[in-house]
Amino acid sequence: MGVDTIYQPRQFNLSGLNGISDQTLEMHFKLYEGYVKETNKLTARISEFLADGKVDQDEMPAYSELTRRLGFEYNGMVLHEYYFENMKKQGPGDAEKNSAFTKAAEASFGSYDIWKADFVGVGKMRGVGWAICYQNPANGRISNHWITLHEVGNVSGFTPVLVMDVWEHAFILDYKPADRPKYIEAFFSNIDWATVEGRLKQDAAQQKTA
Ligand SMILES: [Fe+2]
Repeated sequence: MGVDTIYQPRQFNLSGLNGISDQTLEMHFKLYEGYVKETNKLTARISEFLADGKVDQDEMPAYSELTRRLGFEYNGMVLHEYYFENMKKQGPGDAEKNSAFTKAAEASFGSYDIWKADFVGVGKMRGVGWAICYQNPANGRISNHWITLHEVGNVSGFTPVLVMDVWEHAFILDYKPADRPKYIEAFFSNIDWATVEGRLKQDAAQQKTA
């Protein structure tokens, strides 16, 4: 396997979602595959600079530019995987009462509803990016963050628990740009809470509530 095929695009068995069309998903899978391809391509080009064991001074500008782009492409790849993975057909809507996620939300925000108001609020922020609920693995606390593009605002070492794409390409075939709140509502109806809870480090969440 060469460096140009380090990452393979993952397949997601997603269709028939509520309020997010198959057409949107197919277009979105293609975009995701582009990030995988670019991540491999950049890695291969950077390794060419390193082939002689050093980065020459005259190579530094090109090397730097390619390396800066890695953050965009890598995060574009990984965040889409989290996003597709945390949706499923016929989701239940909100997290169940007494579920591990609801308990984590109560411990960190006071209530699930306040957590949700914050997450939805982040999702409605102007600009292109993501709303991400992270968990701090050290103490189990969850917090919601706005990620500009794909790479600005990610919290190092925190675990993405629920990831929502709010770039316009995530919904523009189904909703007008101003109707992002309708897409967010649709997203909630498709959340796969079992996957979300699988990402939670539950011991840490329980310690916090204890
Ligand atoms: Fe996207």
